[in-house]
Amino acid sequence: MGIHFGVDYYPEHWPRERWETDAKLMREMGVQVVRMAEFSWFKMEPRKGEFCFEWLEEAVALLGAHGIRTVLGTPTAAPPAWIIEENPEIQPIDRQGRRRHFGGRHHDCQSNEAYRAHIKRFVTAMSQRFADNPHVIGWQIDNELGNSHGDLCMCDSCRARFQRWLEQKYGTVERLNDAWGTAFWSQGYNSFSQVGTPLITAVGENPSAMLDWKCFCSDLIVDFAKWQADIIRENCPRHFITHNYMCFDDKVNYYDLGTLLDFVSNDIYPAGHWQKQPHQPEYELAACHDVVRSYKKQPFWMMEQQAGMAGWEVMGRALEPGQMSAWAMQSVAHGADAVVFFRWRSCAMGTEQYWHGILGHSGRPGRIYEEAKALTHRFTGHMDALEGSMPCPEVAIVHNFRQNYALQIQPNHPRLRYVEQLYKYYKPFYDGRIPVDFVQDTDDLSGYRLVIAPLQYLMTPELERHYMEYVADGGHLVLTMRTGVKDADNICMTERALPGKLGELCGIEVPEYDCLLETVGGVQYDGGDYETEKWCDIISLDGAHAIAEYTTGFYRGTPAITENAYGKGAVWYVGTEPGTELMAALSEYIIKKSGVQALGTAPDGVEMMTRQKDQKIWLFVINHTGKERTYRLNGTYTLLEGEKEGVLAPYEVQLWERFEKAE
Ligand code: GAL
Ligand code: ZN
Repeated sequence: MGIHFGVDYYPEHWPRERWETDAKLMREMGVQVVRMAEFSWFKMEPRKGEFCFEWLEEAVALLGAHGIRTVLGTPTAAPPAWIIEENPEIQPIDRQGRRRHFGGRHHDCQSNEAYRAHIKRFVTAMSQRFADNPHVIGWQIDNELGNSHGDLCMCDSCRARFQRWLEQKYGTVERLNDAWGTAFWSQGYNSFSQVGTPLITAVGENPSAMLDWKCFCSDLIVDFAKWQADIIRENCPRHFITHNYMCFDDKVNYYDLGTLLDFVSNDIYPAGHWQKQPHQPEYELAACHDVVRSYKKQPFWMMEQQAGMAGWEVMGRALEPGQMSAWAMQSVAHGADAVVFFRWRSCAMGTEQYWHGILGHSGRPGRIYEEAKALTHRFTGHMDALEGSMPCPEVAIVHNFRQNYALQIQPNHPRLRYVEQLYKYYKPFYDGRIPVDFVQDTDDLSGYRLVIAPLQYLMTPELERHYMEYVADGGHLVLTMRTGVKDADNICMTERALPGKLGELCGIEVPEYDCLLETVGGVQYDGGDYETEKWCDIISLDGAHAIAEYTTGFYRGTPAITENAYGKGAVWYVGTEPGTELMAALSEYIIKKSGVQALGTAPDGVEMMTRQKDQKIWLFVINHTGKERTYRLNGTYTLLEGEKEGVLAPYEVQLWERFEKAE
């Protein structure tokens, strides 16, 4: 496509006379694309059926005259007041049974037929209007689907739809009763029509019902997106369709949603006011990019890359000189083909007055503008070459939405979070300059030397077989505590001791366990003492050998981490949550044992990542600190971009290349 840098632009927030200046400044900055209109329903249809696309066409044409293309957003995350007046029932109902009202955004129920009719009318008109516009290249459906009222909607329409979904899944209500274990607490149903949405109860909830509810909500969102995707596909066959994801967010299964899209896009705000201070750590950002790339196993777009200080009522930290560029190129290093900065200019009104852009409120180009301009001028050419290239990691971490849902419903330990565990297992690889893919548990794993599968809590016979075959064929696998605990319906396994059939693979049994409530545990590993957290599986060996033993609890002296040879491969079982030091030491050992290669060596704050295409490999080295840093690469590369080989100025990004010999 040849499009690599852009901005999110809201011309409707500014006087018409300003647009020309914006377009000129954008062109000079190296902007090739804008995303527009994703919240502008009222501007485009102020009254039912009265379409006003002229202003948008004018903006598209004006930008187009400066060589800037447009991605259009459908504004369905912000239905205007007249729609709410006509159909107040589209406003969602929360878990307390309260209605969530107009005045913010995402005030829509995604199953409501009246709302779908409004969408059909509007998206049909909009897509027909822009289908042949020479400057429009694609569409973003809605905005950050799932980023709404936390509980999703529990209205009568959603309830009826949930019942239909259950009927399709189970066929008979007896099967639902079985799958949900409704014998407990007299929860049996006589018919699907008795099943409700999970409104707040007097006390407690059914974990199996909750898992179905979360999966239903995800399916509903995918269906909601498809409603629009079908219309746009029909009217705009030349245009791409994408959607802006939010990294590991979980309301909608992003793998499923990806099947509707030509490619995935992502939004990232490392220094948002809600993030860890002073900002979200780079290894987490790297993991976000890696999972986003994995949703479709394709390069992606950054549709919103943080360009300025972020905040609504309160604000996060200002970006240091060079920091925005380093983060933008981190996105590219992990697979972004285009980076669109949010937003062009800080907005003067509404909720997001303090969500700063490339330009400040005054609209005058300043420090951030100059930085963005230098960035595009340095990297646009390289990104033409990089387009379509992909990292080729030797390591994969298994990621699954259902596991996340099940552990949200019952975290087991009050502070256990699925995504946090993924981050914890990811970090040593990031620190070791070893690229990682995320994979689904149904994917072919044979291309990876090492697979880490944390918290395989819900288990099926197919998944057991999958892991056993992978290891038997020579794979290296890490499994952890809380594996094989439940079946696919979220009901406890009873046939064997934990971790079920995988006990044969691991050469262990877990007859008992301990939850480290408000305390930590200890293990001895390789002659050293280490802290562990949250959980201790009490393990008996059945072929495996222990590589770490507990030093705390009545089970002190028993195995905490085990290693087992199986077929041509090896498997480790980690029965506790390693603290940071133990995680680093253990990973180092596993990396060595599985023969995984690092890209180089460097101090903290320096990131390395590769992408490759055909015979060519690009290697990015990124300094995420405000200090000079040095590094060494393993292997021979040629410097494409950078001041001084092996030395990084503060926040500098260097790019190397290498050609692989044809086999
Ligand atoms: C994103 C959203 C944007 C904007 C931005 C700043 O989540 O997609 O529309 O709201 O955050 O709040
Ligand atoms: Zn609803």
